[in-house]
Amino acid sequence: MTLTGKVAVVTGGSRGIGLSIARALLARGARVAITATSEARLRAAADDLAGVGEAGAVLPIQSDVRHHAEVEQAIEGAAGHFGGLDILVNNAGVGLFRTVADMSVDEWRRIIDTNLSGVFYGCRAALPHLRARGGGWIINISSLASKNPFPEAAAYCASKAALNAFSEALMQEVRYDGIRVAHVMPGSVRTDFAARRPGSDDWRLSPDDVAQVVVDLIAHPPRSLPSAVEIRPSQPPRKG
Ligand SMILES: NC(=O)c1ccc[n+]([C@@H]2O[C@H](COP(=O)([O-])OP(=O)(O)OC[C@H]3O[C@@H](n4cnc5c(N)ncnc54)[C@H](OP(=O)(O)O)[C@@H]3O)[C@@H](O)[C@H]2O)c1
Repeated sequence: MTLTGKVAVVTGGSRGIGLSIARALLARGARVAITATSEARLRAAADDLAGVGEAGAVLPIQSDVRHHAEVEQAIEGAAGHFGGLDILVNNAGVGLFRTVADMSVDEWRRIIDTNLSGVFYGCRAALPHLRARGGGWIINISSLASKNPFPEAAAYCASKAALNAFSEALMQEVRYDGIRVAHVMPGSVRTDFAARRPGSDDWRLSPDDVAQVVVDLIAHPPRSLPSAVEIRPSQPPRKG
């Protein structure tokens, strides 16, 4: 599959899963804007990605998905710079793991604003551009935690369960415009996202495994829409 001529925005593209997704899209010829809050990490990511695609194919944009004006600026900036938009990957996300009793209101808001409202802001800003192209892709990075709630993760699990519902409703709204919407639910992935547990974490997914799912989705023929994908480590540590 080639993505030459296609333009993508990957939120949270400065490290972890988002960085791998950006690399995979660039390697297939797309031009890619990556967003994140830390300018230093964005710069490092842009340097890291510079040799992957054609010259000038990476555009780092500092943008906090919790603020709709910043998200709109990022989408408009990417579409203006590259001449349109075909793919939006809503990947930016945070996890703060505490019991409900211990979670502060600010922590709750940070999770919901990033993992859920940020996706709404991105989709809302991107849809006119995708329609102008006659179609495209919106891929939302959810989590298996959306379907398997666990203690000390009520806010995170709720944000991702709501994201699944949002994705499915949006998918039905825009499918006849040629816009395909999917959500990907990874299990445990080797990134900085969650605190490391003692012992080897070789069993976890690589961020590249999730990126592979994203590019495989985009490669599907237009008649088909794999709208939800679960991906989990094939051999996690046995329980008990
Ligand atoms: N790792 C896992 O085990 C796992 C499993 C299932 C699902 N996921 C999901 O996969 C996605 C990526 O996770 P990851 O493991 O790659 O996390 P990560 O390594 O912590 O990277 C998160 C990325 O999002 C950016 N980000 C965070 N808050 C942001 C904000 N408010 N606005 C814009 N960008 C923001 C970060 O950059 P800055 O900090 O500079 O903003 C960074 O680029 C998340 O949605 C997560 O819920 C992860």
